[in-house]
Amino acid sequence: MTSRTEDRLRLGVNVDHVATVRNARGGVHPDPVRAALLAAEAGADGITAHLREDRRHISDADIEALMRDLTVPLNLEMAATAEMLAIALKHKPHAVCLVPEKRQERTTEGGLDAAGGHHHLTPFVRKLSDAGIRVSLFIEADPRQLDAARSMGAPVVELHTGSYCDAAGAARGALLKRIQDAAAYAHKIGLECHAGHGLSYDTVGPVAAIPTMAELNIGHFLVGEAIFTGFAASIRRMRAAMDTARSS
Ligand code: PXP
Repeated sequence: MTSRTEDRLRLGVNVDHVATVRNARGGVHPDPVRAALLAAEAGADGITAHLREDRRHISDADIEALMRDLTVPLNLEMAATAEMLAIALKHKPHAVCLVPEKRQERTTEGGLDAAGGHHHLTPFVRKLSDAGIRVSLFIEADPRQLDAARSMGAPVVELHTGSYCDAAGAARGALLKRIQDAAAYAHKIGLECHAGHGLSYDTVGPVAAIPTMAELNIGHFLVGEAIFTGFAASIRRMRAAMDTARSS
C-alpha cells in the first residue's frame, strides 16, 4: 500500500442475491447488473459475483454484462474447476476469488483447504495470475491456510467471517481475535487481506477496524436491507459504518 487512496478500506458489493430474486421468477427483473451500477454509484469500490457451478444465482450472461458495463473492478468468485478457469480466462476480470463449492450447500460453508489442496489449487493460481488476474483464496483465519496461500503464490487471501458473524458473546470475541491475528499474520508474510461472509451493520465494525484489512465483500445483508431502505441507502450506511470503525 503506497497511497492514501489505497489505505482506504474497500467495499466490494456482492450482487448474487439480486440474481436469486430474479431467478425465483425466471425473468429479467431485478437485474444484478443494474444493481451493480447502482452500487458503484452509492460508493462500492468493486462488485463481486459468484458464478456457481449450478448457476443458482449469477448466470454466464450476467458475467458477460458485468464485464461490459462496469466501471469499477469485478471480483469473480468461483470454484477451482476447469470450466470456471476457462470462463475466467475468457473474461479476465480484475480479480478472482477461489472458493470451495458444494452443490448441496446454501452458501459457501467454510474456507478452502489451501493446505490440503495445494497440488490442485497451485495451477489455478498460476494460470489466473499469468493472465493478469489478481487471485485471492477464501480461507479460514488459520495461519496454516495463510502459509499455504503464500506458498502457492496467491497475492491475496479473503478471511471467512461467517462463524464470527453467527457466534454470540465470548465465542464471537474469540473468533474475532482469530480474524485479527490472521490479518496481522497475512500482513507479516506479505499477503493482502480481505474478509467477508455474513457481515452486517452489527458485525462489520470490528472487522473494518483491523488496520491491515484492505477490502470487505458484503452481499446478502445489503440486498436484504434494500427491501427496507433501498440498495443505495444500505450501501451508504455500510460504507459509513466501515469508515467510522476505521477512523476510531
Ligand atoms: N466473500 C465470499 C468469498 C463469499 O463466498 C461470499 C458469499 O458469496 C461473500 C464474501 C459475501 O457473503 P454475504 O453474501 O454473506 O455478505
